[in-house]
Amino acid sequence: MKYLIDPMDLSVKEIDDLISLAQDIIDDPKKYQNVCQNKILATLFFEPSTRTRLSFESAMLSLGGKVLGFSSASSSSSTKGESVTDTIWTVSCYSDIIAMRHPKEGAPLVALKRSKVPLINAGDGGHNHPTQTLTDLLTIKREKGRLDNLTIGFCGDLKFGRTVHSLLKAMSRYSNIKFVFISPKELNIPEYLKKDLLEAKNLDYKEVHKIEDVIEELDIIYMTRVQKERFFNEQDYIRLKDTYILDLKKIENSKKDLIIMHPLPRVNEIATEVDDDPRAKYFDQVQNGRYIRMALIMTMLELQNEVEK
Ligand code: NCD
Repeated sequence: MKYLIDPMDLSVKEIDDLISLAQDIIDDPKKYQNVCQNKILATLFFEPSTRTRLSFESAMLSLGGKVLGFSSASSSSSTKGESVTDTIWTVSCYSDIIAMRHPKEGAPLVALKRSKVPLINAGDGGHNHPTQTLTDLLTIKREKGRLDNLTIGFCGDLKFGRTVHSLLKAMSRYSNIKFVFISPKELNIPEYLKKDLLEAKNLDYKEVHKIEDVIEELDIIYMTRVQKERFFNEQDYIRLKDTYILDLKKIENSKKDLIIMHPLPRVNEIATEVDDDPRAKYFDQVQNGRYIRMALIMTMLELQNEVEK
């Protein structure tokens, strides 16, 4: 596996293998503590991040590897006018694997041409976020025991939310998945996903405006933040930002085993009173993100079979 740019770069079998490996790491993390000795991960973040960057670094450190990188474009030579391609070309001389995040959609694909080492997209604009998707799939598998026969509600900014776009694509390959999109009309799921994915594959989906109208049907509700940085107009952001605030009242009629997910960061989308409810799984996602990235790094470096048994 030389790159991971789009969640569809992975076959269902490869996803299954990554999830199994992550589960084995969870059961016995010590077994993996030296797998990446002498390997270097570079994290190049041209856009802000807390969880994604730190979980990549934590994952590599937990495998006995080392990390280097930058956490904002302003501390890299991109401020001098260097192209992304040249930056990646350079950094691939200093590292064994690269995770990059960039505000421009498609930037990792362009950078891939010059990378001499495996490259992971850690988020490109409003487009894709495949490692969040792996995190989400591991969480769903651990909580529900399956990745098929599920009704999933995506709520919030479905237009700009790359975590939604990537998870939707990945889930579209499992059988009997029903998608429910809950958003104000300005933040509807993009047309290209409706046409080229949902309709092309004849998937079961509907679009609604209110959580209360559908909560009873859902196995999963996936909340998202309104993506302030992708708006052209501050007024629109202010008008839309608090459209959905999930509180205990709104989930009163949910299935008992509903799970509430959120890629985080949360702004106001989930009231803190929900945090201690057994249905809340968003901090489990954070924890799972570390394990699945350990599995991914090992697999991309072809070290998944190097573990002492
Ligand atoms: C998300 C992202 O960066 O797309 N965060 C994350 O990586 N966990 C979601 C967001 O920023 O809203």
